[in-house]
Amino acid sequence: MSHVKLQDVTKRFGKVIAVNRLNIEIPRGECFSMLGPSGCGKTTTLRMIAGFEDLDEGEITVGEKLFSSSFKKYYLPPEKRDFGMVFQAFAVWPHLTVFNNVAFPLQIRKLSKAEVAERTLRAITYTGLAGSEKTYPNELSGGQKQRIALARAIAINPTVMLLDEPLSNLDPKLREEMRFEIKDLQRKFGFTIIYVTHDQSEAMALSDRILVMSDGRVQQIDTPLNIYQRPANQFVFGFIGLSNFLPVELEDGAVWIEGMKSAGPVNTPLPPLAKGRRMTLATRPSEIDFVHAGGVRGIVKRLTYLGDIIDYRVLIGDVMVRVQKNRKREIFRQGEPCGLIFNKVLWYEREP
Ligand SMILES: Nc1ncnc2c1ncn2[C@@H]1O[C@H](COP(=O)(O)OP(=O)(O)O)[C@@H](O)[C@H]1O
Ligand SMILES: [Mg+2]
Repeated sequence: MSHVKLQDVTKRFGKVIAVNRLNIEIPRGECFSMLGPSGCGKTTTLRMIAGFEDLDEGEITVGEKLFSSSFKKYYLPPEKRDFGMVFQAFAVWPHLTVFNNVAFPLQIRKLSKAEVAERTLRAITYTGLAGSEKTYPNELSGGQKQRIALARAIAINPTVMLLDEPLSNLDPKLREEMRFEIKDLQRKFGFTIIYVTHDQSEAMALSDRILVMSDGRVQQIDTPLNIYQRPANQFVFGFIGLSNFLPVELEDGAVWIEGMKSAGPVNTPLPPLAKGRRMTLATRPSEIDFVHAGGVRGIVKRLTYLGDIIDYRVLIGDVMVRVQKNRKREIFRQGEPCGLIFNKVLWYEREP
């Protein structure tokens, strides 16, 4: 059964449709990410789930309970939703110690002193802050401040955690470590996570499923692997991982880079169900091989060493193709002619 359910949720700001008929069902205990470029509606969606923002249309339920409904004109205030929340900015109170920062939401819930202390210390321990109870936030690093926010969120024993780009202000190494810590916390406490990010590798590493969003709309909801290997459309293909989109024409039973018949045919069968003569061939730089003879003929324009991988730019006519190969393979030099073999491709329709 789904834990968090959004039905036809829509939000407008004046003429901007920030979130457009969004339907999501998240099972209990899932780590669900919302991924998309800046301005695509991720934060607005999270704020509607949290109750900071009303809906123009649609309904949100959590478990059996109605949280927001435009039809029934119902709206449960945020403080009654009992979500744990962590945002991008380090939202800690500078004048309170770590202990009091974490304890505060419990204190306003009027729990007994003993219970506040127990839950606070447990959250502090689980987030790796033990020993800093009496410290003030400005004596701590960004990562530690974000741990305070995490501890505060889990201290209330939430069944749902809402995280909005919680690691974006941390340096890359710490960001990677904290991903695992968040996963561990989820395993220990069993809450459902709704995680907003514009960082694809973060979404890939953390999530059971990812919602890829653009312009307020769902592009795809799927597992990280399927999002990468079977992108639903060209937007998703281009947003996740590295990509080449090559204009091709279909003629004489073969595929050619558009306007470049002299470069030779592409080594793929004709796309199934092609509507027109022109298509877009989509392929990842790692799915292309070099050959000396045959293939689509091009010239190596540039190569860049990226650790173990070499990143090539190969020019075919006026089309630049990106290829990535392991450094241990044979290296093609700048200016050298080469052939390209495409191992794995997807096809997209092209506007006439
Ligand atoms: N309070 C607001 N008033 C007006 N427009 C807003 C407001 N909040 C968000 N928007 C607009 O809604 C769209 C989605 O924003 P947001 O949800 O913040 O995107 P994201 O979190 O994916 O970057 C953007 O076009 C943004 O400018
Ligand atoms: Mg945002």
